[in-house]
Amino acid sequence: MANVVILGTQWGDEGKGKIVDLIADRFDVVARAQGGHNAGHTVRIGDKKFILKLIPSGILRPGKKVVIGNGVVIDPAALLLEIETLEEAGVEVAGNVFISNRAHVIFPYHRMMEKATEQTPGKVRIGTTSRGIGPSYEDKVGRRGIRLADMLNGDTFREQFQANAVEKNLLAKALQIEETWDFDAIYDEYLGFAERLRPYVCDTAVYLQDALRGGKRVLFEGAQGTMLDIDHGTYPFVTSSNATAGGVCTGLGVSPVHVDAVFGIVKAYVTRVGGGPFQTEAEGDAAQRLRDQGGEYGSVTGRPRRCGWFDVPLLRYSNTINSFASLIVTKLDVLDGLETIPVCTAYRYKGEVLKGMPALSDVLEAVEPVYDERPGWQGATAGVTDYDALPEGAKDYLRFLSDQVDVEIGAISTGPERDETILMPDSTLAKLLK
Ligand code: IMP
Repeated sequence: MANVVILGTQWGDEGKGKIVDLIADRFDVVARAQGGHNAGHTVRIGDKKFILKLIPSGILRPGKKVVIGNGVVIDPAALLLEIETLEEAGVEVAGNVFISNRAHVIFPYHRMMEKATEQTPGKVRIGTTSRGIGPSYEDKVGRRGIRLADMLNGDTFREQFQANAVEKNLLAKALQIEETWDFDAIYDEYLGFAERLRPYVCDTAVYLQDALRGGKRVLFEGAQGTMLDIDHGTYPFVTSSNATAGGVCTGLGVSPVHVDAVFGIVKAYVTRVGGGPFQTEAEGDAAQRLRDQGGEYGSVTGRPRRCGWFDVPLLRYSNTINSFASLIVTKLDVLDGLETIPVCTAYRYKGEVLKGMPALSDVLEAVEPVYDERPGWQGATAGVTDYDALPEGAKDYLRFLSDQVDVEIGAISTGPERDETILMPDSTLAKLLK
């Protein structure tokens, strides 16, 4: 009985949503460990399309249980809206969604703080999603955060909230925030949220432990991507949580002994949203072509994604941190028709080829990618479901990537639909999904 982790290997938006949706039927529980409503993927129910940001898409499969772990930060208004939208679409939410009592809560002042700090002159602009994610994690680590368990306990909540109100007012003055907020109104509103969320809240670590002991299969779904990880990503241009394999254990209270394998989702090219180094960023028409063909606009913020070429050193580093059993390559079809495809195989800095991934973002900004121009292919990979039916050039491209990072390819996604996927029958992925 395998429990597996699915992670983004680059800067997020690798197409985890489709893959999780595709394989969720082989699992009993889908659990999410970190991030907040900064993540998001579009899902379709019948002819309706909407974006799930907090609730794992496994909820769309009848009978599946989904868990939002302690490592996630929760905006109750966003979460309740998702619950309502799902219920309106006929999805059974009650009894299927389990939310950690230890998850921290996002308040309106977190968003305002974020806006103010992002605009502070002289501060490095991260280009965040403006959802209050970072400030909420700051309060968590600063030991003044408010968790769902606290919010559900009237006395604790009032005291904590008042202490926060005093502090945030001082901060607002120091940051010259003009906007005022009505703490009493926020408090009352959040008391209402607490009551509506109460039926879903529990100790999800215990819930998962019982599920695992009972032989249930759990799919651990990452949010964002490895290079956005607070510890291992392109700091400070990162999100505020651990988007790597370790985050699954701390963000859900699950021991690593329960994880059988980690699978990495790899886009056939690279994108990033927000600021920060992007070693293989393409420019002009080349970037626009990838953006148009790949529909590379943020699902949460609608921002155009920065687009560029496959980065082998980045994926090697991502593999160092996560130890992938197989890679799942997505959006291969976006490269259809290109004459040649640049693949970065090394970084050069001040004339020297670098070993490993520089820790300094200034160095990453300055590295010169060493490109291997791979031949493209003329036939279409779009919609192909059988590896043998891929054009030879596409097979070469995939083999090259896999050899460069020394990790097998477990699956290839050739389009947005569930069945537009090739599963490699001899891969660890295929074996563990049996
Ligand atoms: P935050 O997570 O809103 O604090 O944003 C920090 C950085 O992470 C910004 O560059 C965001 O664009 C990026 N980011 C956060 N969530 C996602 C995601 O789901 N996909 C891609 N980028 C993300």
